[in-house]
Amino acid sequence: MKWTASKIKALKGERKIAMLTAYDALTASLVDQAAIPAVLVGDSLGMTVLGYETTLPVSMDQMLHHTAAVSRGTEDALVIADMPFMSYQPSLAMGLENAGRFIKEAHADAVKVEGGAFRSELIEALVGNGVPVLGHIGLTPQSIKAMGGYKVQGKTSEQARQLMDDAMAVEQAGAFALVLECVPAELGEMISNALTIPTIGIGAGAGCDGQVLVFTDLLGISDKPAPKFVKKYANLNLLITDALAGYKAEVESGSFPADEQSY
Ligand code: KIV
Repeated sequence: MKWTASKIKALKGERKIAMLTAYDALTASLVDQAAIPAVLVGDSLGMTVLGYETTLPVSMDQMLHHTAAVSRGTEDALVIADMPFMSYQPSLAMGLENAGRFIKEAHADAVKVEGGAFRSELIEALVGNGVPVLGHIGLTPQSIKAMGGYKVQGKTSEQARQLMDDAMAVEQAGAFALVLECVPAELGEMISNALTIPTIGIGAGAGCDGQVLVFTDLLGISDKPAPKFVKKYANLNLLITDALAGYKAEVESGSFPADEQSY
């Protein structure tokens, strides 16, 4: 069954929603085989696979290239394209045009934009023009320079109230779901209870309606330390580096290829 934004929205209160990032056809097909209903082509690809320090340098062309690959590798999961930094911030028209490119050229099913109440106008315009939108508030990595680092958001009552207002505004504007990143678990639960659309938490506690993690974090592929909110379900870094060391040793010793691998 192909997942749509409205089917994901309807899961609120029915069952928790698993979402995972993917960046190419191979990783997307693995997510799809696991029957995970939504795959996010996060701009985290800048850090996870393109070698940048932040998500800020990621371009529209890079996101289109990777989103198209994810769409090709996916049968059932909803494919959500993350709109990169400055592909929607300069103007409503630019946001609409670039979101349209994700749908037309990369076959995405929905887009994600960062920002709360101040992003309402864009979300409303996108939804009004047939583009399902996933909102994203709390720690918004595209604002990392203004936020001064990757820090938990909404710790003071004033910030918490602002995030609640932002969540309400994003829902009001028509988003089908909302990512809550790095907020105290208690606030994650309060926002989730106040909204009629699902919240998808990442470092936002168990009270959210769903969770999203970064593919490479979940599988333990990177050798860099992961944030506290990550649970590693495998240690592929060790498996992969062991396999590569085995290959190198066998090539160097002459035991690969053996007769079985020869014609
Ligand atoms: O870019 C990304 O992968 C994200 C998720 C972690 C929410 O924005």
